[in-house]
Amino acid sequence: MNEENNTNYGIADTSYLAAGSETGINILVNRFFERMRTDPRFSTIYNMHPDDIETSIDKLARFLCGWLGGPKLYQEKYDSINIPAVHQHLAIGIAERDQWLICMKESIDEQAYETDFKEYLISQLGIPAEIVRQRCNQ
Ligand code: HEM
Repeated sequence: MNEENNTNYGIADTSYLAAGSETGINILVNRFFERMRTDPRFSTIYNMHPDDIETSIDKLARFLCGWLGGPKLYQEKYDSINIPAVHQHLAIGIAERDQWLICMKESIDEQAYETDFKEYLISQLGIPAEIVRQRCNQ
């Protein structure tokens, strides 16, 4: 992996393509929720989700497609979204933020992504995760 790629991931749809486009992002998000469902380390955040987990999977996968510079699939189906606002009713503190990020990191690590993209992706996801934590009422 060369250094040039690292600086380009934020540009246009570079990250979306590096994540395997819609198919790759769907695989990642399915693994993320499967890990969250089955690993007791993540039971607190899994139990915060509505029973219809398929909808949560669809929403996060569609959101990440647009967030990574690809098509705005979330807005196409569910309308506009404000990430802190959709979490505001939840009790997300440091422990819950870290459960989410660890579950996501382990799911990213399983994917056949370039090593520098894995590092880039988890560090970028840390930004909205921290904003969500700060905006949640504890
Ligand atoms: C900080 C740790 C986080 C936790 C514990 C968490 C947990 C949750 C839960 C429990 C829901 C379902 C809410 C409900 O339907 O009542 C949800 C929804 C969602 N989350 Fe998170 N989340 C976190 C961070 C993030 C981040 C960083 C992103 C984006 C990069 C994200 C994207 C979404 C999306 C797109 C939805 C669906 C919103 C909707 O349309 O209803 N979440 N999250």
